[in-house]
Amino acid sequence: MRLLVTGGAGYVGSHLVWEAVDAGHDVVVLDDLSTGHAEVLPDIELVVANLLDRDRIHAGVKRLKPDAVLHFAAKSLVGESMRRPDLYFRNNVVGSMNLLDAMREADVGRFVFSSTAAVYGEAETCPIEETSTLAPINPYGTSKKMVEELLAAYADAGWVNSVALRYFNAAGADAKGRTGEDHDPETHLIPIALMAAAGSGRRLKLFGTDYPTRDGTCVRDYVHVSDLADAHLRAVNWLEDGAGAQRINLGSSEGYTVREVLTTAGDVVGTPLQFDEVERRAGDPAVLVASHARAKAVLGWSPERDLRTILETAWRWHSRASSGHAASTTTT
Ligand SMILES: NC(=O)c1ccc[n+]([C@@H]2O[C@H](COP(=O)([O-])OP(=O)(O)OC[C@H]3O[C@@H](n4cnc5c(N)ncnc54)[C@H](O)[C@@H]3O)[C@@H](O)[C@H]2O)c1
Repeated sequence: MRLLVTGGAGYVGSHLVWEAVDAGHDVVVLDDLSTGHAEVLPDIELVVANLLDRDRIHAGVKRLKPDAVLHFAAKSLVGESMRRPDLYFRNNVVGSMNLLDAMREADVGRFVFSSTAAVYGEAETCPIEETSTLAPINPYGTSKKMVEELLAAYADAGWVNSVALRYFNAAGADAKGRTGEDHDPETHLIPIALMAAAGSGRRLKLFGTDYPTRDGTCVRDYVHVSDLADAHLRAVNWLEDGAGAQRINLGSSEGYTVREVLTTAGDVVGTPLQFDEVERRAGDPAVLVASHARAKAVLGWSPERDLRTILETAWRWHSRASSGHAASTTTT
């Protein structure tokens, strides 16, 4: 298949790109490189364009005429979304709408969307099911919920069928070392911990050790980014016959405690990680994990890579020498 991947130069998107190439698909990436890295996509066709440039997006989708679009491109920093909600609604909602309208015009009917746990807000039940109330507590989560609503309306109108994949914490890196996590600022526990182990100088803090969990620290849902990529390809296949607007959690149903993450990271790195145990942080729930029962039923998907694999692949990436590849770039 010919796949158009927006945000394919970013962390999760670039893993999908390589999984799709490995599976024999023809992949074109559309990315404005605002947070992405062209050097992780050598020999992949890269269109450098912003989703807010409506005319270029319409021309690009019409020219490329993909079988399906996988839409990763978004701004995704919760704190920044509180300070600059305008940026988040414009980029994530208007950008998605430009893309969907371009698909409609070019008669492209299959869409896979990167949604997020943030659409649930403070979930009432755990593990979280897709039927849980959607009550996002920041503009980032609201922007993703708004796109899910757009998708429902576009499916009802018979324009675009879609699968929104709600993921929690993407983690790990490509087993072949072709891509990995590289955010600036980095806000995720695993890369922060591994960069500290590699000598970043950042002192780790473990917030709260008295939660009602197996070791007193918070439980969070980490899924290997290559497992996420696999779910995206399954969603594209599902859309060959499947219609409507599906919403599916990509979680482990179990999760790992923060202490388990830090201890396993120390094992992988070969030296125990140093961290300070401090008071709980306001607003951190004890357990945040997603049920993947629907992912299993609809897509036949469940996560295959465990915490050690997540940390080993991530560590290989973070301790790598810079590869310095150049991507091939085209314009629409
Ligand atoms: N990383 C996670 O743990 C996580 C969890 C849940 C959901 N998500 C979602 O998954 C997607 C990918 O996340 P990520 O961590 O890879 O982020 P990322 O920042 O690494 O990747 C996003 C990519 O989109 C591009 N982009 C952003 N706005 C654009 C625009 N207007 N036009 C063109 N390109 C644009 C960026 O340059 C970047 O390459 C996002 O939609 C995010 O909300 C990520």
